[in-house]
Amino acid sequence: MIRAVYPGTFDPVTNGHLDVIERAAKIFDELIVAVTTNPAKTPWFTLEERVEMLKECCSHLPNVTVEAFDGLLVNFVRQKGAKVIIKGLRAVTDFDYEFQMAAINRKLAPEIETLFLMTSLPYAYLSSSAVKEVASLNGCLKDLVPENVAKRLRQKVEERRR
Ligand code: PNS
Repeated sequence: MIRAVYPGTFDPVTNGHLDVIERAAKIFDELIVAVTTNPAKTPWFTLEERVEMLKECCSHLPNVTVEAFDGLLVNFVRQKGAKVIIKGLRAVTDFDYEFQMAAINRKLAPEIETLFLMTSLPYAYLSSSAVKEVASLNGCLKDLVPENVAKRLRQKVEERRR
């Protein structure tokens, strides 16, 4: 039984994230999508909202659960009895950051492996930041995020304008 953890900020979850989740769910017995707050980023959505959106998007995947965590990722992974961290890789621009994270996590917890899934090509350009920019400029969100997320993005844009 191999349990894996897919961590991220997910502000909000995109079709690129969901592609990684669906592919990882086929490889591992259990996948925990772990949502946290990255101090380097100011999120649009609260932690609860991000978890809720992910739960809605993953409800068709019986071996996927969604949880919030704080503190070190490796502590959460250990606490969950998982052995693998899954990360998605888009362009080379992701590499330096992900390489550093994987090295630090390995130093902190040598028994945990970080595995990378290359993003599927249609999502190579996609990021949560780009999606928020499109939403704030009233652009079309089709194919970028699922409809439930698009709806919440449009609501959030309205809220932020008030
Ligand atoms: O979606 P993101 O923002 O690229 O995800 C980054 C995330 C949340 C995976 C990363 O910031 C993280 O692991 N945060 C938890 C704190 C931690 O363990 N940091 C690694 C050691 S510096």
